[in-house]
Amino acid sequence: MPFELIRTKVIGRVGWITLDRPDALNALNAAMVGEIASALAAFGADPDIGCVVLTGSERAFAAGADIKEAGERTYPETFIEDFLASWDAVARMRKPLVAAVAGYALGGGCEVVLMCDVVIAADTARFGLPEVKIGVMPGAGGTQRLVRAVGKAKAMDLCLTGRMMEASEAERSGLVSRVVPASDLLAEAQAVAEAISTKSRINTMAIKEAVNRAFETSLSEGLLFERRTFQALFATLDQKEGMAAFAEKRAPQFRNK
Ligand code: HXC
Repeated sequence: MPFELIRTKVIGRVGWITLDRPDALNALNAAMVGEIASALAAFGADPDIGCVVLTGSERAFAAGADIKEAGERTYPETFIEDFLASWDAVARMRKPLVAAVAGYALGGGCEVVLMCDVVIAADTARFGLPEVKIGVMPGAGGTQRLVRAVGKAKAMDLCLTGRMMEASEAERSGLVSRVVPASDLLAEAQAVAEAISTKSRINTMAIKEAVNRAFETSLSEGLLFERRTFQALFATLDQKEGMAAFAEKRAPQFRNK
């Protein structure tokens, strides 16, 4: 896949997307978001890929949406073009997404992290929604997804002051799954993504849908969705294989069927 602002690679059954705009601390301009969407679509359609890792550089996962590109925009333009709507491609990805975050994850960078499923942070990671400092507010899901991730009081604190939080606070708050030394970040992300990608794809995609349903619906509807999805898995060969392998004390061979 020929890209200019991201790099992609495949390790085993894991697809990697590395944001690669070092001069701007991986600020997310429209072209970069388009490339991320294309790479996700390709990995999503690739039957050999079970999980995707999204990462940046040691200095920045992404320091936000591109402020310089957005500065002169007008309201009519942003409305008619539905500015930032294209970012939903990340949230729409059906296969599990692991964010591997070192350095700054600010503004839109933090919002992309909030769209991912598992978040591995280096101890150097810094998270924040500093849009309030530049005369706007989070616009790619930050006010909604951050509340659901860390609760109202912490979300208000971060959105209203624009302050950054360190990896340890982000982990305590529930934004981050685990924190590791910066030197271990990529290996840890690969290990997590590999663990996911060796499971039955039907299971991992169903689990992602069910967990995300918790954000969209009432408890009783969510529980019903979970139970029906769980029951549906008994129509898969991978359920038979997984349970037979347990009984026979061997590793399961999932075939995504
Ligand atoms: C465009 C950016 C950028 C951004 C950094 N750069 N962040 N360019 N958009 N979001 C550029 C700088 O202009 C600079 O380019 C280069 O990257 C290096 O950044 P420095 O500021 O020199 O680095 P440093 O002093 O280490 O400070 C790092 C930083 C700071 C604390 C992360 O860059 C910063 O505050 N960035 C903005 C963070 C932010 O507000 N993010 C939210 C954006 S709004 P030059 O060419 O000068 O060397 C958002 C949603 C709103 O995400 C949607 C509308 C855009």
